Amino acid sequence: MSYDIALIPGDGIGPTVVDAAMPLLHAAAAAHGFDIETTRYDWGTERYLNEGAMMPDDGLDTLASHDAILLGAVGHPDVPDHITLNGLLLPIRKGFDQSICKRPAILFDGVDSPLKGYEGGDIDILVFRENTEGEYADVGGREHRGFANEVAVQSAVYTRRGTERIVRAAFDAATERSGHLTNVTKSNAQAHGMVFWDDIVDEVSEEYPDVEVERLLVDAASMDFIRRPHEFDVVVCSNLFGDILTDIGAIVTGSMGLAPSANIDPGNDHPSMFEPVHGSAFDITGEGVANPLATVLSGSMLLDNLGEETAATALWDAVSEQLADSDAPRTPDLGGDSTTDAVAADLEERL
Ligand code: NAD
Ligand code: IPM
Ligand code: MN
Repeated sequence: MSYDIALIPGDGIGPTVVDAAMPLLHAAAAAHGFDIETTRYDWGTERYLNEGAMMPDDGLDTLASHDAILLGAVGHPDVPDHITLNGLLLPIRKGFDQSICKRPAILFDGVDSPLKGYEGGDIDILVFRENTEGEYADVGGREHRGFANEVAVQSAVYTRRGTERIVRAAFDAATERSGHLTNVTKSNAQAHGMVFWDDIVDEVSEEYPDVEVERLLVDAASMDFIRRPHEFDVVVCSNLFGDILTDIGAIVTGSMGLAPSANIDPGNDHPSMFEPVHGSAFDITGEGVANPLATVLSGSMLLDNLGEETAATALWDAVSEQLADSDAPRTPDLGGDSTTDAVAADLEERL
């Protein structure tokens, strides 16, 4: 069996973490009897600066034939983020109908949380972020530029199909896990989209009588991700709220450098995409100290999605074992002084 994976390393620390992670995916594949072929696409801000576009016009057609995509990060200090992100990352999520974004936030053994009294195993949250619409729907405009009555509109769009899909995926996960689902909205202020969302959660919940649903407003949920993260299990929320909550989830579980994510097309008509939650981190770019583990864990989610569960578990367990080992190399975000490559080399030995 051979899988064909598209690599989009992207900007900043993106290439560093993708180059560190890929040999580990190859090693996991070799140990479990399958092959991985990769095609590298040097799309990103450098391309934009040279050729005027983040990716070719037919970029999505090119990606469509791959089994999965591993992406590093997109975003560069020399070009406004709304141009780079709307030129590469977001069109892939939307164009490939990757409406389900799964983002685990796990406090691993051996990792310090900034929260007092928390130890490995105390936090294990799985956020289901709606990933193609909501507040990220590209609907709006800007009128009367520069005039006193200038106005900008940025509309959020919630479709029944999109909302049902993410809500159902979250209920399915809650059924498999502890039977507890937290639905995060802002339906006290946003009486259209968010009340529609709550209604759909109520409707779908009838199909899942064993799942207990807790409702939280996003402001309170943000506080509770810090005050009582141990009480969350599966969380479902809209695109923007999921974006924000998963950065909080990443830092309460130790580092942005540990948080993986999966962008899944539930219809399986297009390749799904796997990427760390973090960005291009230009503050540490070129120093060789970016934590590669978020990307390695994203790679594990990729293998799992391809149906290679044992290889996925081996990779995940190698990370978990390394983190639990106080003698193992760690990057500075985890309090260590090791390089990206040293962490990856240690993982390869464990594999
Ligand atoms: P960021 O995630 O890049 O960085 C936030 C902080 O976390 C920084 O201090 C950074 O050094 C640290 N950090 C992030 N990843 C790390 C890692 N692997 N190891 C160690 N430390 C790490 O967020 P930002 O600064 O808000 O964004 C920088 C750029 O990345 C912007 O252009 C933004 O739009 C973009 N961005 C892209 C993605 C993506 O491609 N998926 C995600 C988030 C942000
Ligand atoms: C993420 C990122 C992206 C998002 C940005 C870069 C558009 O923050 O994947 O979390 O908001 O989805
Ligand atoms: Mn984000």
